[in-house]
This record gives sequence, C-alpha cells and structure tokens, in this order.
Amino acid sequence: MNTQPHIKIEGTSKFQIGELKNNIVHYDFEKIITYLNIKGHLIFDKNFKIYKEDEPLLFKLCCYFIQDHQTCAKMGIDTNKGLLLSGAVGCGKTSLMKLLPYLAPHKTNYEIIPTRNIVFNFNAAGFEVLEKYNDTKNYCFDDLGIEPTGCHYTKECNVMGEILLSRYDLFKTKNSKTHITTNLNAEELETRYGSRVRSRLREMLNVIAFDSKDKRQ
Ligand SMILES: Nc1ncnc2c1ncn2[C@@H]1O[C@H](COP(=O)(O)OP(=O)(O)OP(=O)(O)O)[C@@H](O)[C@H]1O
Ligand SMILES: [Mg+2]
Repeated sequence: MNTQPHIKIEGTSKFQIGELKNNIVHYDFEKIITYLNIKGHLIFDKNFKIYKEDEPLLFKLCCYFIQDHQTCAKMGIDTNKGLLLSGAVGCGKTSLMKLLPYLAPHKTNYEIIPTRNIVFNFNAAGFEVLEKYNDTKNYCFDDLGIEPTGCHYTKECNVMGEILLSRYDLFKTKNSKTHITTNLNAEELETRYGSRVRSRLREMLNVIAFDSKDKRQ
C-alpha cells in the first residue's frame, strides 16, 4: 500500500499534490496542474502542456479521478459511474485518459483499449473476444464510434454494442466501471448503437464534453 499517495515520485524528483491529514489527502488543484504538466512531458512529449482554457474541464476530471465525491456531486458528476468524454477530433481526450490515472491510481484506474483493435481482434478470433470484456476489470474504450462493423467469417456483429450491453450488466451487478472517449454526440451514439445501448450509457456514464480545439500539430 502506498502510504504517501499525495507525493508523486518521478525519477529523483518528488511532487507534492496535496496534504495528508488524518489519513485523508487534501488535494491542491494548482499543484495537480503542475504535476500533470510534468508527467505529460514525460509520457508524451515536450510539447505537452495543460492549456489554461482546459482547466475548468480538468478540474471536473481531477475531482472524479481523485474520487472527491462531494465536489463531484455539486458538479453533477456521479463518482460511481464511468466517464464518457466526448469532443472534437484531436482535442486531447485520449491523452487525458492516459494521463489522469497517474493522479490517484489507487482510486481510478483502467485498461485503455482502442475500439478499432477490439473489432480487429473480433474479426480474427470471433465471439470469444466479446467474453474478454465481460469481466470485472475497469476499461476505457477509446474512440467509440469510429470502429468498423465486426465481421467474423460471414457473421456480422455490432461488436462494441454487444460489449457495452454486457458492461452495463457488470456495472449493475458488480460496480465495474466503463469509460469511453468519442467524437460522437448522444444522438449519433444512438444512431450507431441503438436506443438500448444509448439508454444504458446514460445510466452508467457521466457525460463530459471536452470543448477544445484540435491540438494536433
Ligand atoms: N495538452 C496537450 N498539449 C499538447 N499537445 C497535445 C495535448 N493534448 C493532445 N495533444 C496533441 O494532440 C494530439 C491529439 O491528442 P489526442 O489523441 O489525445 O486527441 P483526441 O481528442 O483523442 O483525438 P481523436 O478524437 O482523434 O481520438 C496528440 O497526438 C498530441 O500530440
Ligand atoms: Mg482519441
């Protein structure tokens, strides 16, 4: 167990992102931003930075990742649900979903998988691939909506639609969390996956809109 979750160690440097009082970490958002800038440099590249205009969104996301139930509730975010991060191409959704688990890995963690890879695996291996995600681990399905329809031999399958239906059952029975990044809005998700999936996504996810410009160079 990490007895100092408020101190981040990167190589020989230490970053304090909050104070530990009575076994509870009181996080400091300014210090979190400093740490995220540095960690982003390390895991992505030197051009990475936290944009000032993205800070309101980051505040919401950080509260979720550190599981600050009270502040999240005030912002209409349910810490028991997953995140659906939607936004324009290149605004930085995938980068944030890779970066933010470093804040408090003991609170929020998941495996991040591009939906295209899941469908390519399905096409090669078939229905057993659907079973892989029918487990209690937490996942982030990256870029939902851009994957092609699955096709194993002659059998077509809406692979992500099926996986999301079973993830909903796991959310209800085992509290497993599913997170999603997507370029699609609610209506487009419904068109792509149907109203059954759309309704379940609403129940299992907090919809967070990332309203930012394309950061690709
Ligand atoms: N905070 C940032 N600072 C600098 N560059 C960034 C930042 N966030 C993202 N980028 C750059 O923009 C590119 C796109 O970021 P990312 O893949 O996270 O966006 P996305 O929203 O997931 O895009 P898509 O919708 O196409 O999946 C990255 O390759 C990275 O180079
Ligand atoms: Mg992405």
